[in-house]
Amino acid sequence: MSTINIAIDGPAGAGKSTIAKKVSAEMGYIYVDTGALYRTIALYITENNISDEDIEKSLENAKVSLKFIDGVQRVYLGDRDVSDLIRTPEISMSASRTSAIPAVRKHLFSLQQKIANENNVIMDGRDIGTIVLPNADVKIFLTASAEERANRRYKELSEKPNCPPYQEILDDIIKRDYQDMNRATAPLKQAEDAVLVDSTNLTLEQAVEKIIEIVREKI
Ligand code: DC
Repeated sequence: MSTINIAIDGPAGAGKSTIAKKVSAEMGYIYVDTGALYRTIALYITENNISDEDIEKSLENAKVSLKFIDGVQRVYLGDRDVSDLIRTPEISMSASRTSAIPAVRKHLFSLQQKIANENNVIMDGRDIGTIVLPNADVKIFLTASAEERANRRYKELSEKPNCPPYQEILDDIIKRDYQDMNRATAPLKQAEDAVLVDSTNLTLEQAVEKIIEIVREKI
């Protein structure tokens, strides 16, 4: 029996993960956050002080895997759960940089396809609809203006200590968008058959509703 695959791509901070989590709970699918895989490679490179020219040959030692515990994804480097360690601004930027390296993308490719072949999934990332799951049953490209994405992030961080200034958050978002959209291999772009959802003027609930509507129409 073939599985059902839903791809959600879009830039950083568009709300992909929050929305995909809600939609997956509603549909009973597994939510796969592929950004966590690139972040784990970035962590591996940072922790081991690996220089750019040594990245390719050191990848065979970077054993990245995913586990789903009660439907919640945890990411492992070897047998260490690094799910929380990878959520820093430094790792975000470093993941964006290292994800441009073709060998890194190749290293993570079959893991993503295997999970989608074996499970009904909602998978989010940058190249899911274009490269990883070109035959996905539903493809969504979720975006929002850079200012609105920075606003949301700022609101989220302002409740925690050491919140960076709004301008710094916006600058990081613009830089990461540029890197993710302009790399030569698997750049962030809307697949031809993806449905565009712009969440700039939508509440989270409205965006979730809209995406569930699109999914139900297609499946
Ligand atoms: O989704 P995220 O912010 O956790 O992703 C971190 C970085 O990883 C992102 O800036 C680009 C890269 N990435 C990618 O190149 N391809 C994916 N499918 C997912 C993430």
